[in-house]
This record gives sequence, C-alpha cells and structure tokens, in this order.
Amino acid sequence: MSIPQSPNSQLPSSDGGAIPPSPNSQLPSSDGEAIPAIPPSPNSQLPSSDGEAIPAIPPSPNSQLPSSDGEAIPAIPAIPAIPAVLVTGVAGFIAAKTAEFLLDTGIPVIGIDNFNDYYDVRVKQYRLDQLAGREGFTFIEGDIEDLPALEQIFKEHNFSAVLNLAARAGVRYSMENPHIYMTTNAHGTLNLLECMQKHGVKKFVAASTSSLYAGQEMPFVETLPVNTPISPYAASKKAAEVMAYTYHKLYGIDVSVVRYFTVFGPAGRPDMSPFRFIKWIDEGTPITLYGDGSQSRDFTYVDDIARGTIAAMQDVGYEIFNLGGGNNPITITEMIKAFEKQLGKKSIIDQKPFHKADMMETWANIDKAKSLLGWKPQIDPYEGFEKTVNWYLANREWVKDVNV
Ligand SMILES: NC(=O)c1ccc[n+]([C@@H]2O[C@H](COP(=O)([O-])OP(=O)(O)OC[C@H]3O[C@@H](n4cnc5c(N)ncnc54)[C@H](O)[C@@H]3O)[C@@H](O)[C@H]2O)c1
Repeated sequence: MSIPQSPNSQLPSSDGGAIPPSPNSQLPSSDGEAIPAIPPSPNSQLPSSDGEAIPAIPPSPNSQLPSSDGEAIPAIPAIPAIPAVLVTGVAGFIAAKTAEFLLDTGIPVIGIDNFNDYYDVRVKQYRLDQLAGREGFTFIEGDIEDLPALEQIFKEHNFSAVLNLAARAGVRYSMENPHIYMTTNAHGTLNLLECMQKHGVKKFVAASTSSLYAGQEMPFVETLPVNTPISPYAASKKAAEVMAYTYHKLYGIDVSVVRYFTVFGPAGRPDMSPFRFIKWIDEGTPITLYGDGSQSRDFTYVDDIARGTIAAMQDVGYEIFNLGGGNNPITITEMIKAFEKQLGKKSIIDQKPFHKADMMETWANIDKAKSLLGWKPQIDPYEGFEKTVNWYLANREWVKDVNV
C-alpha cells in the first residue's frame, strides 16, 4: 500500500518527540533519508488499498445549503476518509508503539486485543491508555480466534492493511500450553487472511520471530531454511508464515513477514528479561537467570521495530525481512551490568539451568530490510537500555505492583 500523509504529518523521533515536517513536506525514512511526499493529485484522490485511486466524492450540482435568511451557503467540500489500518494485539508491547507511530503520521488505526492475562494486564492497560482518546484511534476488545467477530469488523471498516501483531509470544510458556499457540498464532492468522481475501484487503504484515533460526549459522539471513523450530511458539509462527504465503499465491495478498529480534524498551513485556531484571535489581530481588549469562541477543529497540513494521507496509509481493539490531550480539551478563550501572545497584543472581527451548545466540543480517525497505535501526542497544531504565524509574510507583 502507499502510506498516505496527514497534512501535518510528523514522525516521532526516537525519544518520542515529534520531528517537524521539512519545508517540502518530506517524511524522514528510518535511515534518515527523506522519502518524497506523495503529491496531492489535482482532483484530491486517495490511493486505495489495492492501489486504485478512490475518486473524491463530487459535490452534487445543487449542493448548496440555504442559510436562515434564504441566502445559499456554499457546501463544505467532502474530504475523503483515509482508510484505517487494522492493528491486532494493540495493547501489546510492539503493536501499541506501532499504532502510536501510525497515528502520528495521520493514519487511522483500529486496534483489537483480547487482553489475555498471560502477563500482568496492568501493563497492557497502561499502553492502551497512551493511545486512548487520540484522534483516529478506535479500540475493539476482541479475539482473532473469533472468526464471526472478525467478519463483523471487516464488514464495518475499510482497511488499507492488516498488521498482525497479536500472538502468544513466550517461548518457554509455549511448552506448557502449546495449544493456545496454534489457535492464536496459526489459526488466528488464517482467520485474518480469510477476512482479507473476502473483503478485498490487500496488504498483510505478519509479525514473526528470530526463534525460527535456532540451530542455523549466524548472522541469520532470510534465505536460511527454518524447518526445524525448537519450540511450539516458533513452530506456530512458521505455520503462520506459510499460510500467509498460500494466501499471497491464491488471492494476491501482498505479504511482508517481519522477523523481530529480541525487542526491548519502555513499557516492555514483564515476562521478558529487560523488564524483569531492571525491576529485580532495583528491588533487591534475586534475578532468575536461565543459563550462565553468556547467551547473547541481537537486541532491538521498540521504536526501531515499530518503524520497520510500518516501512514493511509497502508492496513487496511476498517477502520475509529480519528486523534486528544487526550488531554483534550482547550477552545477558553485559545487559545486566548496564542496568546495574544505571541503577547504581548490584544484582543478586539465582542461576537456573539453561532452558532447552531457548537459543544461545541470535544475530540478524539486516541487509534485505536496508535495501528493500530503506530501514535500519537508529537506537544503539546501550542507549535503549538507558531509555528503558529511565522509563522504569519514572513509572516505578505503579510498576512496583506489576507481577513479573
Ligand atoms: N517482543 C519480542 O522480542 C518479539 C520477538 C519476536 C517476535 N515477536 C512477535 O511480535 C508480536 C508482538 O509481540 P509483543 O512482544 O508485543 O507481545 P505482547 O504479548 O506484548 O503483545 C501481543 C498482544 O496480543 C494480544 N493477543 C494475544 N492473543 C490474542 C488473540 N487471540 N486475539 C487478540 N489479541 C491477542 C495480547 O493480549 C497482547 O496484548 C508477536 O507476534 C510476537 O510473537 C516479539
């Protein structure tokens, strides 16, 4: 899809502040290069989801309203509505940031989330509160497993794209409750694709994972075979990727699969180590550490991931993109040290055996996202750790009650 611009389109900067529009109304791309603005067509047409122009509603020949004194008042010209983007899992960590950035650029967002209690829902509510009341945002509490409910949503709204970020996302928990991973991650994806093909929605962005690369040579590149997932979570994501391919082939749905690499940042997931470790170090609670801390991750800051997800809304056919730091990975021990330094406190480590569904290392090759999407991360992981700790310190009052 082409990404429409609002008249005062501002893209958020990495620290949440808005970057003012340049004099010739160009949007900064993720790598700082200017993306030329879409020029308004002479007859004010908006691109529709399938690239066809939607004609502006012409004023009717006698469309003048009589004023109270009988004088004709010229009719207000109709402004065609910008079609909304459906963002699933919108109360989630990554989807909430993505929705925020879409709204910043003037794109309306319909967000759906089932608000499940896999982790403390206070964090989901906090994220939703940041979006509530923003112009162009609509929240629907709902489940992507519920096909009739989705049907209704697709009937009522005209979507230019669907960003499917709703998921069961914990690797370890997927061994405890594998069924819910298949029903949400695989079947939920199928439900969305089915609604899209029925209602003519052409663009699908599917959130996938670096967990698929377990056992492969680093840095991970998209062309590697990923047919040996080591967790039900990864297997369910693979299922979603291939189902999206099928719908691309059969119905011409344009698909970008984005494989995220360990995403962290403010208002992150309380089941993930950055959130937990910061809280535990600050509170003097022992850190539950699986393995000896030498395992490493290609940490990626949430703002960069949200920008990459939006960049992936362009038409590509069917493509898979790694969205990761692209750096030499950072060990968990190094991350802990960074948190200790900023908090001015020492951690107490409670070491547990390395978990068999975990990966020792992740490292993304991001050349494809750079060349096809013009995306690369802008926030260095250590700068991101600092922002994450700062967010925690500013929100400590309520975060202290969050179950981790
Ligand atoms: N955070 C990471 O490091 C990471 C890494 C790789 C991939 N991902 C993927 O990115 C996406 C977003 O992850 P996140 O970290 O923001 O997780 P998250 O758990 O914070 O967000 C997922 C959201 O989806 C919602 N949800 C779950 N099942 C649903 C259903 N059936 N119907 C409607 N809503 C439902 C949840 O309530 C939650 O708010 C997921 O697809 C995840 O698998 C995340």
